[in-house]
Amino acid sequence: MDIVLTGSVAFDYLMTFPGYFRDHILPDKLDKISLSFLVDSYRKQRGGIAPNIAYSLALLGERPRIMATVGEDFEEYRARLESQGVDTSMMKVIPGTITASFFCNTDRANNQIASFYPGAMGYAAQLSFRQWEGKRPDIVVISPNDPQAMKQYVVECRELGIPYIYDPSQQIVRLTSDELRAGIEGAEAMFVNDYEFGLVQKMTRLSAQDLSQILQFMVVTCGKEGSIVYTRGNEFNIPVVPPDLITDPTGVGDAYRGGFLTGYNHKLDLDTCGQMGTLAATYCLECEGTQGHCYTPAEFILRFRKHFDDRGQLDRLHQN
Ligand SMILES: Nc1ncnc2c1ncn2[C@@H]1O[C@H](COP(=O)(O)OP(=O)(O)OP(=O)(O)O)[C@@H](O)[C@H]1O
Ligand SMILES: [Mg+2]
Repeated sequence: MDIVLTGSVAFDYLMTFPGYFRDHILPDKLDKISLSFLVDSYRKQRGGIAPNIAYSLALLGERPRIMATVGEDFEEYRARLESQGVDTSMMKVIPGTITASFFCNTDRANNQIASFYPGAMGYAAQLSFRQWEGKRPDIVVISPNDPQAMKQYVVECRELGIPYIYDPSQQIVRLTSDELRAGIEGAEAMFVNDYEFGLVQKMTRLSAQDLSQILQFMVVTCGKEGSIVYTRGNEFNIPVVPPDLITDPTGVGDAYRGGFLTGYNHKLDLDTCGQMGTLAATYCLECEGTQGHCYTPAEFILRFRKHFDDRGQLDRLHQN
C-alpha cells in the first residue's frame, strides 16, 4: 500500500522555566502583562504531525510519503527523514519562509505557555492531489495542518475517489460543523482522542453509533486508559502496554497512528492494528521527543507478543 501523510511539519523549540508562572502573574495587572522568563534549558526538536506518524511507520519498515510545505531551514530535517526511510519527494520548500515552529515554555508545575508560528505550513493549500503525478496513493491521511489545506484535501480526495483517513484533532476547533461533517462523511476512517471525540459529537450532532455507521472504522484513544477501535459491527477495547518509564508524553497520539497504520497497510485485523498502535505509543512515551524512540521490526514483534496474540499476522512485517 502506498500511503501519503498530510499534516504539519514543524520544529519544536522547547524551554523550561525553573519557577512557577503563577508567581509572576499579577491578577490586578492583567491588562498590562509584560513578562519575560529566563529559562534554564532549551532544545530544538524535529516534530510536526506528518513526520511523527511517518517516523513510526518507517521504524516498522514502511516507506510512507509526506505531502507538505516546508521552509528554507528544512534540508537537514529532510536528510534525516530520508535516512530513516521516509519519502520526502512531495515536501516542497517555499522560498523565503521558515518551517512551522512551535515555541513552548514549561514551568515546574508543567504549566505551559506556547506559540505556534505556521511559516511555510501556511502555504500547504498550494499542494494539490489534482496535480499528482505518477501512481495515485492507495490511502491518504489528513492530519492537522493549515485549515484551508485540510478542507481542500478533503474535497479533492472525495472528488478524485482517493480513500482517506481523517485525523482532524487539534484543528477541529478551526472547522465549521459542516466542514467537519464533510470530512467525516467522505472518510474511510477517523482517529481522535476521547476529548476530541466529545467535541466531534457535539459539533456534528452525530452520536458514537452514527459515526461508527458512517465510517468503516473509528479509533478513539483514551490516554493511559487505552483505546477503542469501533467497526460497523464491533468494538475492540485495546489496553495500553505499560511503559518501563514515562519520559515524555508528547507525540504518543502520532506514534499510535504510525503503529496502527502499519498494521492497516498490511491488512491486519483492526484489533491487531490497535494493539500495534498502543505499543508504538508506549515506545514513544519512553523516550524524549516525538521521534526519539528507536526499535527494529523484530524487536517490536518480540515485545508485542509478550502482551498480545497476533495469530501470526505480524510475520508479514518481515516481508517488506
Ligand atoms: N500513560 C500511558 N501509558 C501507556 N500508554 C499510553 C499512556 N498515555 C497514552 N498512551 C497510549 O497512547 C495512545 C494515545 O494517547 P492519547 O489518547 O493521550 O493521545 P492524544 O491525546 O492524541 O495525545 P497527543 O495528541 O498529545 O499526542 C493511547 O491510546 C495509549 O495507547
Ligand atoms: Mg492527539
